[in-house]
Amino acid sequence: MKFNVLTFGCQMNVHDSDWLIRAMESRGWKAVDESEANIFIVNTCSVRDKPEQKVYNILRRLGHLCTSPGDFVAVGGCVAQQIGEGFLEKFPYVRLVFGSDGIAKAPQYLEELAVDHEKRLVVNDFLAQYPEREGGLADPNEELLPPGIGTIPGQAFVNIMQGCDNFCAYCIVPYTRGRQKSRLSSAIIDECRALVKAGIREITLLGQNVNSFGLDKNGSDLSFSQLLYKISEIEGMERIRFTTSHPKDIAPEVVKAFGELPNLCPQLHLPVQSGSDNILKKMGRKYDRARYLGIVERLKEACPDIVLTTDIIVGFPGETDEDFEQTMDIMERVRYESSFSFKYSDRPGVAAVKMNPKVSEEVAQKRLTHLQERQKQITRECLEELTGKDMVVLLERPSKRQEAGGVSWRGKDSGGRVVNIFFEGSDETLQLGGKLIKVKITQSKNHSLVGSKVGDPW
Ligand code: SAH
Ligand code: SF4
Ligand code: F3S
Repeated sequence: MKFNVLTFGCQMNVHDSDWLIRAMESRGWKAVDESEANIFIVNTCSVRDKPEQKVYNILRRLGHLCTSPGDFVAVGGCVAQQIGEGFLEKFPYVRLVFGSDGIAKAPQYLEELAVDHEKRLVVNDFLAQYPEREGGLADPNEELLPPGIGTIPGQAFVNIMQGCDNFCAYCIVPYTRGRQKSRLSSAIIDECRALVKAGIREITLLGQNVNSFGLDKNGSDLSFSQLLYKISEIEGMERIRFTTSHPKDIAPEVVKAFGELPNLCPQLHLPVQSGSDNILKKMGRKYDRARYLGIVERLKEACPDIVLTTDIIVGFPGETDEDFEQTMDIMERVRYESSFSFKYSDRPGVAAVKMNPKVSEEVAQKRLTHLQERQKQITRECLEELTGKDMVVLLERPSKRQEAGGVSWRGKDSGGRVVNIFFEGSDETLQLGGKLIKVKITQSKNHSLVGSKVGDPW
């Protein structure tokens, strides 16, 4: 069967789609461009209204591509969890809807639907345990799935948990991903070990709130810091990252790990959401700016080179100019190297829907533009400070922009910064994906660095 996967949303959705592609390819299906596909899988995101609306537009478009009786659309991810049955009612060519826990069985259902053209299914039940997937290596007889088409050589993501228990007032994720379920640490460690054996050099541990890993197991399994230490010991493990961290749950041992573990990358995404105590309280984030800044200080003490990034929401209900100024102020204090910032968006069923007054679109947009302009400057300044420095880069793929006389490759340093390196005299036959190389930074740009190689890749 020829299939196409379209993905929206966070790293977890990207990873889910990647897994699904590999699982289907291992069953003999072929991932192809949309124009050639018979089966269309849309992995959706519901975090703001815009990505949700996009799903309906895409489904209408895909309807025109379902021309033979065997053609159909499967909708997965957070909008699927949210709308469920509704997709079957509204779109006759949607024949599978699978939510957050349903994805583990999606390959089996896709195969069934490809044979039985009458069948339509919704798989939206939340399960009590973390649903292990094939290739997840909870079963020692299983094998790692081979890398998929979109994967970056040398890098892999490993799920450590599913869901979220925090119910931040603005957020739909606890409803779409369900309650927090940590995966067994032994399955995680086995998967990491197998990935390293297969040549992976950088692993990113994934979860909505990795710092609360294990808390749902009442101490019967490792804590997140213990898990980090265990993974760090795996022979050949060169780089570890994790995302996302909720500031309220970051343990002192995790902060310490940044100073102690040589293979834990000096990079942390620590969503602040707002710099105003008043707004943080309404958001239900359970920390205030003093506590957040204290964590940042200790992180910088433990690891002076740490690269901090964040998420910020502007225009949360009741946000005043003063509240917004506090957010700008926290940006100045922390000096995030980059940030994702969003205008607050009402989501069905979340607590903030009922909070007033709403901030007008115009004011929210003005605040967002102002914040993003300032972030651009800070990013540029942070990158400028790096010129002349030596760093190790994990090479990913040829750069988008190429020049005559050689070939340029893009990779990331341990801080997660994009670095482009020019290999003079080489051409597109050069294969460097997954290799490490030492470089000297020669130039900084708005969002990336340019480096020249010092020594050979390994
Ligand atoms: N688990 C992660 C975030 C997942 S959602 C965490 O707790 O940090 C990713 C980001 O989307 C959030 O950090 C938040 O900044 C943003 N977001 C979530 N709900 C939103 C909403 N209703 N409107 C605007 N932005 C939102
Ligand atoms: Fe959403 Fe808050 Fe959970 Fe993050 S921690 S997923 S923002 S509810
Ligand atoms: Fe979106 Fe679901 Fe991720 S709502 S951000 S895809 S957890």
